[in-house]
Amino acid sequence: MKPYYEDDLVTLYHGRYEDAEIPAADAIVTDPPYGETSLEWDTWPTGWPDAMATVAPSLWVYGSMRMHLAHSREFIAAGWQFSQDFIWEKHNGSGLAADRFRRVHEIANLWYRGEWRDLYHVTPTTPDATPRALRRRATKGEHQGSRGASDYVSEDGGPRLMRSVQYVRSTHGHAVHPTQKPVGAVAPLIEYSTPPGGLVIDPFAGSGTTAIAARHLGRRCVAYEAREDYAEAAAHRLAQQAFDFSSLGDGDAA
Ligand SMILES: C[S@@+](CC[C@H](N)C(=O)[O-])C[C@H]1O[C@@H](n2cnc3c(N)ncnc32)[C@H](O)[C@@H]1O
Repeated sequence: MKPYYEDDLVTLYHGRYEDAEIPAADAIVTDPPYGETSLEWDTWPTGWPDAMATVAPSLWVYGSMRMHLAHSREFIAAGWQFSQDFIWEKHNGSGLAADRFRRVHEIANLWYRGEWRDLYHVTPTTPDATPRALRRRATKGEHQGSRGASDYVSEDGGPRLMRSVQYVRSTHGHAVHPTQKPVGAVAPLIEYSTPPGGLVIDPFAGSGTTAIAARHLGRRCVAYEAREDYAEAAAHRLAQQAFDFSSLGDGDAA
């Protein structure tokens, strides 16, 4: 298989991942077909959790709860163990049925192989903790129940553990793929599981969001996309997109 797009950090192939020799990597970060829409390519690629088991020890998989429940046995049978889930909260979403809650989130599950302690993972933090502060609690009036004045110290301050639910704006109308993820919903997963300079695989590249996020973070990425129109769109995004933090919320239409 010949690269469709290549730069210092990213190699994108147009072709089915099944037809490629996938290199050993640090992590797989992907958004497979969920098998939930009438899109021509949207059928669950049978056997892929098994195929990925020899590629990397960490596997982040985006999907809906329905998809994860329907296929979790395939991951377990392939030797993957479940670690945790991460939720991308969208600013809007889709109602697949008029009588249900409008779904404004997607779930990424982390599966791993081997011993957790041997697995590369960083403690995920955000720099938005409230500064340590001494606050005085006012005395309540008698009618509110008696409570004396007291002081307490907020233990917050400095970086704090990143929340497992992250709001990232989706940009319907700007996406070049019908289920495009925003870069900001994928970047934390790559940073968590792949060391700087490490290698990420995406067997279902779509418009190349994983590859763009990996490159932003100084990680390498090898990605595969079966459809030429999407491979072309991904190559175009990769060629055009200079690093721009404002683009981290860009690009969803899922
Ligand atoms: C859910 S989309 C990925 C969207 C991507 N996360 C993005 O942000 O653009 C899944 C993609 O996998 C591709 N695909 C399906 N089966 C494949 C296979 N066997 N090998 C490679 N790509 C495949 C589809 O054409 C589709 O573009």
